[in-house]
Amino acid sequence: MTLIAFHDGVNNSSLVEWRYWASKLNKKVSFVSLIEKQADKAEIALVWNPPEGRLAELTNLKLICSLGQGVDHLWKDRHIPLSIPIIRLVDANMSHALSQWVMAVLLDFLRDGSFYRQNREKREFNKLPQRSTYATKTAVYGIGAIGSVVANKLRNFDFEVTGWAQTRKPHLLFKQEIGTEGFQNLLSNNLIHICLLPLTLSTKKLFNQEAFMKMPKGAYFINAGRGEQVDEIALLNAVHIEHLSGAALDVFCEEPLPVSHPFWEEKKISIWPHVAAQTNPETAVEQVIEAIHAIKSGRVPENIVDPVRQY
Ligand code: GLV
Repeated sequence: MTLIAFHDGVNNSSLVEWRYWASKLNKKVSFVSLIEKQADKAEIALVWNPPEGRLAELTNLKLICSLGQGVDHLWKDRHIPLSIPIIRLVDANMSHALSQWVMAVLLDFLRDGSFYRQNREKREFNKLPQRSTYATKTAVYGIGAIGSVVANKLRNFDFEVTGWAQTRKPHLLFKQEIGTEGFQNLLSNNLIHICLLPLTLSTKKLFNQEAFMKMPKGAYFINAGRGEQVDEIALLNAVHIEHLSGAALDVFCEEPLPVSHPFWEEKKISIWPHVAAQTNPETAVEQVIEAIHAIKSGRVPENIVDPVRQY
């Protein structure tokens, strides 16, 4: 019997979610809440945002599995046992969901959805001239498992896409810009900027005042990476002074976004409560089962995270 310590980010770990995972995993596993004493002997930790120091107390631990695609929540725990393999979810279903969200907010912006919704409120039938959007220059920051799917979908929709990464990815067919110089080129040459990066020391506050001011006037910013990659006040200012046309955000420095946050006052910033790609246990469970098998049979599981690179 394999004991799995479960924690979904809430102190008393939502039982519904936990029972669902348990029912999908085979009968040879048993679940316990990470915060309970019984979890001390767990071999597997299936977690989101575990309490600081708790994972280090599990003396039998053989695998830490993030309940999401990101793992930045794990680095916040300064005592995380780095000698234990850590995996993140890489789920084609979630990449697909995320690409649809990007498409939804992007087309809503380009086809003036917000103007027409206001029209409706006022029972007005006014038209704006249709923008010419063919081959709209679009930068996708982060072209891994998620970003590459998004970039390919955008290309199929006639966007002119350039991806940004630290190193060139020869298997990807779209244009790429690399490293710091590439980042600066992308900022100034694209109208649409889509951030899908993992949060690491080098992506923290990457989108700051200088970056926003480098984007051409009228640019649009989309973030489904992490809130901490953005200087939120700089973004707000860039929208206020109409240097940027607006932004669509699914992630924030503080979540839930506090009710007093100035983003709520800015209609040109569309706010989504971290729902662009929600973890789908139904599709993610296969990967967890496979990783447990790998660990049990002495193999290295897939989608291992490198603690030095932080993703
Ligand atoms: C969501 O943000 C995730 O990391 O899966």
